[in-house]
Amino acid sequence: MRTDMDMVLNDTSRRIAARRALQDLWQPGCDFLGSEVAILGGAMSWVSERHLVAAISNAGGFGVIACGAMTPERLAEEIVGTQALTDRPFGVNLITMHPQLNDLVAVCLAHNVGHIVLAGGVPSGATIRRIRDGGARVIGFTPALALGKRLVKLGVEALVIEGSEAGGHVGPVSLTVLAQEILPHLRNVPVFVAGGLGRGDAILGYLEQGAAGAQLGTMFAASEESIAHAHFKAAFLRANARDAVTSVQLDERFPVIPVRGLSNNGSRRFLQHQAETLRRFQNDELSREDAQLAIEHFWAGALRRAVIDGDIEEGSVMAGQSVGMVKAVRPVKDIIVDLIEQAVDALLRRDERLHNTHPESALVK
Ligand SMILES: Cc1cc2nc3c(=O)[nH]c(=O)nc-3n(C[C@H](O)[C@H](O)[C@H](O)COP(=O)(O)O)c2cc1C
Repeated sequence: MRTDMDMVLNDTSRRIAARRALQDLWQPGCDFLGSEVAILGGAMSWVSERHLVAAISNAGGFGVIACGAMTPERLAEEIVGTQALTDRPFGVNLITMHPQLNDLVAVCLAHNVGHIVLAGGVPSGATIRRIRDGGARVIGFTPALALGKRLVKLGVEALVIEGSEAGGHVGPVSLTVLAQEILPHLRNVPVFVAGGLGRGDAILGYLEQGAAGAQLGTMFAASEESIAHAHFKAAFLRANARDAVTSVQLDERFPVIPVRGLSNNGSRRFLQHQAETLRRFQNDELSREDAQLAIEHFWAGALRRAVIDGDIEEGSVMAGQSVGMVKAVRPVKDIIVDLIEQAVDALLRRDERLHNTHPESALVK
């Protein structure tokens, strides 16, 4: 007869087995990143600085500094500052169109940064080679299978596929579809999924489809260690998924790069600004180039205004649809532990279902 103690021991060993199963699933991601868990903190301009990056790495994940428009000197300071707060691995995200890209790469290499994430465009073979020759690993982004394969041929060693649910600059395709298009066909490098992720059970689903890990931004932007202004975090706590919308383009002659964020007075004024710019263009008051520039300049400095100054009405409050799952400002460690436990619970629930129908197939008999 099974005693209470037998049942406790069985529950404990089932949980240990489920943890091991999760570890097996994301081990390729952990091996590549050198982290305990294959959860990357997606680089977020102004948000992903030394405190948040170190907190994510210290919690067992993999923090990534957002270089954004930083100068090489500022980036060097940020790397050194992060290294003072953690001895765990972390990465640096560089925007490929930064005019000093080569200098930024040199700074990363000089400071022994192990991983460089190249974002915002297709990186050149020369940049990839420079990074690899310098001893660091290269992570790229791909919005499609063909480009992913090309990047791997060029020497990119891991990829992030980011769905349109994500915060910040986004492509048009959801993670659900990208994952199906890409994960079964790109098995030779670790692929990390991003966009709209807020729970461990969802991450588990993608690991089972072949992902090596996951990248999250929004959940960490509102963490205790994030330096984002209290107003910025409060806006995240109030928001629902449907409040995180992409910027609207008024006229196809004047392209607007879609950015997902919380709608506010700034996003409403952006529409009026486009309409007014269009009117001036049609009245020959502005050339086509000047009109395009006027539209592009509208948001200059707007993310900083929201994140640092706390102006959440006029600034750009970039956020993913996962913002609806931000329920409290919590330490990074707790967020990561929850993600792990939710994945483990999902495995256990499945195991229980299997055990009920096929007792021989359970994790622990
Ligand atoms: C406030 C904010 C700023 C971001 N800035 C950048 C950036 O500078 N570079 C980049 O590659 N991605 C940026 N992202 C995207 C994140 O790195 C990450 O991929 C994304 O947040 C994942 O989706 P999620 O927000 O639904 O978790 C930003 C996202 C947010 C929310």
